[in-house]
Amino acid sequence: MNGKPLVSIISAGMSKFGKHEGLLAREIFSQAASEAFSRCPKLEPKKDIKAMFIGHMGEAYEHQGHTGSVIADWAGLTGIPATRTEAACASSGAALRSGIYAVLSGLADVVVVGGVEKMTHRTTAEVTEYLAMASDYPFEQWHGITFPGLFALMATAHMHLYGTTEQQIALVAVKNHYHGSLNPKAYLQKEITLETAMASRYVAWPLKLYDCSLITDGASCIILTKPELAAKYTDQPVHIFGSGQASDTIGLYQRKSLTSLNATKLAAKTAYDMAQITPKQVNLAEVHDCFTFAELMAYEDLGFCKIGESGKFIESGETRLGGRIPVNTSGGLKAKGHPVGATGTAQVYEMYLQLTGQAGKRQVKDAEVGLTHNIGGSGATAVVHVYRSAQ
Ligand SMILES: CC(C)(COP(=O)(O)OP(=O)(O)OC[C@H]1O[C@@H](n2cnc3c(N)ncnc32)[C@H](O)[C@@H]1OP(=O)(O)O)[C@@H](O)C(=O)NCCC(=O)NCCS
Repeated sequence: MNGKPLVSIISAGMSKFGKHEGLLAREIFSQAASEAFSRCPKLEPKKDIKAMFIGHMGEAYEHQGHTGSVIADWAGLTGIPATRTEAACASSGAALRSGIYAVLSGLADVVVVGGVEKMTHRTTAEVTEYLAMASDYPFEQWHGITFPGLFALMATAHMHLYGTTEQQIALVAVKNHYHGSLNPKAYLQKEITLETAMASRYVAWPLKLYDCSLITDGASCIILTKPELAAKYTDQPVHIFGSGQASDTIGLYQRKSLTSLNATKLAAKTAYDMAQITPKQVNLAEVHDCFTFAELMAYEDLGFCKIGESGKFIESGETRLGGRIPVNTSGGLKAKGHPVGATGTAQVYEMYLQLTGQAGKRQVKDAEVGLTHNIGGSGATAVVHVYRSAQ
C-alpha cells in the first residue's frame, strides 16, 4: 500500500448486540464507550477527546432526537462538540467519515465516532415503518414497499440476468451464521444448515427469514487520532488509508441498474485510489449484508469477483473463514445483528480486532489489509474504508 494514512484508530468498543430490555440507547452506548476507553489507558477521555460524531438513524424508536448531545453526556464528554450523523443504515459510516474530516482539518486531534440504535422494544410492524422512511416517500413508501421488498426486486433482477439461485443467496446466511457462532457479541450465535435457511418462511420472494438481518439493539465506538500521534496512545494502532463516500438516487426506480449499487462502486473507487491498492490486495472485509443478496452484490461492486459471478463466488468458499478473502467474520448484519445506527462503526470494531490480532476463534491468519462497506437504505448512500495493521 503506497498511500499515506489519513487517521489512526487507537481504540474501539462495542456493546453486545441483541435485545437490551429496559435499557435506553444512551446506556447501551455507554457500554461501548467504556470498553473503548478502558482498552486505551493512556487516553484521558475528558481532556484528550475534542469532538464526537454519532450515527443514529431514528428518533421514532425512543421518541428521542438531538442524539449527539445525549450520547456525549452519557459517555462523560459533555462540553465537546457532539453531532449526530444520519444516513439511514450508513449513519455511523458517515460518522466515521465526519471524524476523518475533523482530524484531517486540524480542528481536532482526537475524536470519537460511533453509533447506536435501540429497536427491539418496538413491534416488527413499527420497525418496518420506521426503516421504510429511508426509502422514497412518494413512489416507494406510499405504495407500501418496504426494504425486504426493495432488496427482493434487486435479487430477482440478478437471478434473471445471471442465473443466480435462491440456494446461492442462502449460502451467505449459512456462512455468516457460522462466523456469528464464533463471536461472543453476536445476536444469534448459532450455526444453521442450508436446508434450514431454504426452509424458512418467505418475507419477500425470493428472500426468506434467514436472508434478512436482525432487528437489534446495540452500540459501537471508535477512537481516532492523527497518525503521528497514535504512538502516544497505543503500540497497536490500525491505520485508515482510504475513505470513500458516495450517493445515488433515493428511489430504486430511478436507477440504471437493479443489480449493482453505483454508490458502492464510486465510494470503493475513491477508497482504493486513495489507499493505492486493488481489490486483490484486500485480505478481509466487513460488507453490508442487510439482506443476504446485498452481500453478493457487494462482492461484485467492490471488485472481489466479476460482475454476475457472485453466486459462484460464494459457492467457492473463498469468503468463508479459511478462504482467500473472509467476508463478515463478525457474523455480519445477518447473525451479529443490525442496530442500524451502530452498524457502520461495528464493522470498524471487527476490523480493529482482526488487524490487531484480537479476534479470538474467528481470527483471520496474517490479516494485514481490510475493508469495510456500509450502505444506507437501498444504496442511496455508500461508505467504504480501507485499513492496514501497524505490524
Ligand atoms: C425478518 C423479520 C421480518 C422477522 O421479524 P418477525 O417475523 O417479527 O419475527 P419475530 O421477531 O417474531 O421472530 C420470530 C423468530 O424468528 C427469529 N428471527 C427473527 N428475525 C430473524 C432473522 N432476520 N434471521 C433469523 N432469525 C430471525 C427470532 O429470533 C424468533 O426466534 P424464536 O422464535 O426462536 O425466538 C425482521 O427480522 C426484519 O424485518 N428484518 C429486516 C430488518 C431490516 O429491514 N433492516 C434494515 C435493512 S435495510
